[in-house]
Amino acid sequence: MNPIKKNKFSIIFNHDGYVELAEYIENNNFKKILILTDDNSKENCLDIFISSLSATNNQVSNLIDSSLFYYSVKPGENSKNIETSIEVWKFLIDKGFKRSDLIINLGGGMITDLGGFVASTFMRGVKFVNVPTTLLGMVDASIGGKTGIDHREIKNIIGVFEFAKIILIDYRFLNTLTKRQKTAGYAEMIKHSLICEKSEFDMIKKVDSVDEIPHEMIYKSITTKISIVDIDPHESSIRKFLNYGHTLGHAIESYLLGSNTELLHGEAIAIGIVLESYLSYLKTGFDFEQVNDIKRYINKHFSSVKFSDSDIYEIINLLKYDKKNSDDKAMFVLLKDLGEPLFNQVVTAKEIVDAFKFYKD
Ligand SMILES: NC(=O)c1ccc[n+]([C@@H]2O[C@H](COP(=O)([O-])OP(=O)(O)OC[C@H]3O[C@@H](n4cnc5c(N)ncnc54)[C@H](O)[C@@H]3O)[C@@H](O)[C@H]2O)c1
Repeated sequence: MNPIKKNKFSIIFNHDGYVELAEYIENNNFKKILILTDDNSKENCLDIFISSLSATNNQVSNLIDSSLFYYSVKPGENSKNIETSIEVWKFLIDKGFKRSDLIINLGGGMITDLGGFVASTFMRGVKFVNVPTTLLGMVDASIGGKTGIDHREIKNIIGVFEFAKIILIDYRFLNTLTKRQKTAGYAEMIKHSLICEKSEFDMIKKVDSVDEIPHEMIYKSITTKISIVDIDPHESSIRKFLNYGHTLGHAIESYLLGSNTELLHGEAIAIGIVLESYLSYLKTGFDFEQVNDIKRYINKHFSSVKFSDSDIYEIINLLKYDKKNSDDKAMFVLLKDLGEPLFNQVVTAKEIVDAFKFYKD
C-alpha cells in the first residue's frame, strides 16, 4: 500500500512501516523510547510490534534491547484523564527521559490521544509515533494532530494540536478486535464516506459485515481524513466537516459515560450521524430518501438506543460544552447532499427533539 507522506507526518503501511520506523529511530539516535499501551493492546499487539520492528535490522534490534521502556494503562475511556497523564509523566521523569527521546503510542484512540497529549506537553514536547491498533484509531484518531484528555464529563476538553511524526498502520492488529469495536470504528468510515465524494457512500454500503472490510476501503477512509487535515490542520474551516455526527454524538457519549448504557465513541457517533442527517433534511433540504437510507444502513450495523424525554433534554443541555460553539450556540455540520457538507450551521432545540423522534421511529 502506497505510503502517504506529508510535511508534518508520514503514514506507512505494514512491513514498510516497520522499516521506516527503524530508520527513523536510527537516524534520530533516540537514547530512550517509551512504548505506551493499554493492557489489551499490550497483550494483543506488543509482541507483534516488537518482533516486526526487530526483524527490520540488527542495529534497531540492539537498540530495542537497550533503550526500550514500557508503560501500560488500564483500558477504556476512563484512563484518558489527567490522573493517568500524571502517572506517565512521573514514569518519564523517574526513568530520566529527555526532550530528545521518543514515545511510541501503541493502542486505540484512547492511547494515541493520551500518549500524544503526554508527549507534546512533557518538557514542552517530545517526538511521538502512533501505531493505531483499532479500526477507529487507523482511520481517524491516530491521524491529524489532535491529542487530548477528558476532564469531568467533558470529552477532549484539554489538549493540544501536535502531529505524530510517523503513523504506522499494521492491519494485523484488527484480527484481535471484537466485532463491537470494529463496528464502532466503522462509524467513522461511514462518516468519511458521507462527507467525501458522492459515490463513496454507495461503496461503503456494499460492506455487509465489518469482518470483511477491504483494506483498500480503510486506505480510502484514511486519505479522506488526510485530504482535509492537510488543508486545515487547526480546524478553522473545512476540518469542521469531520465533525459530522459529532456535535450530538459527543453529547450522547458524554451523557451516557459511566451509565449502564455507556456507548463506545463510534456507537455514539453513529447515532449522531442519523440525527444530524435528519437535521440536514430540515435545514438544508438534504434528500429525505438519503436520510432514510443512512438510517437503515446504520441500524443494520448498530443496535438502537432508547432515549427518554429527560435524556434528550440533558443531551441538548450538554451541547453548551461543545468546543465548536460560537456565541454560545452549538454549531453543526450538515449535509446539503452526499459529499457536500456545510459547517457552522445552527439548529434549534425543537429541531433536535424532532431528530430524536425520527431516530426512534
Ligand atoms: N484525536 C482524534 O482526532 C480522535 C478522533 C476520533 C476519536 N478519538 C478518540 O479515540 C478514542 C476512541 O478510540 P478507540 O475506539 O480506538 O477506543 P480505545 O482506544 O479505547 O480501544 C477500544 C478497545 O479496544 C482495545 N484494543 C485496542 N487495540 C486492540 C487490539 N488490537 N485487539 C484487541 N483489543 C484492542 C482497547 O484496550 C479498548 O478496550 C476516544 O477517546 C475518542 O475521543 C480521537
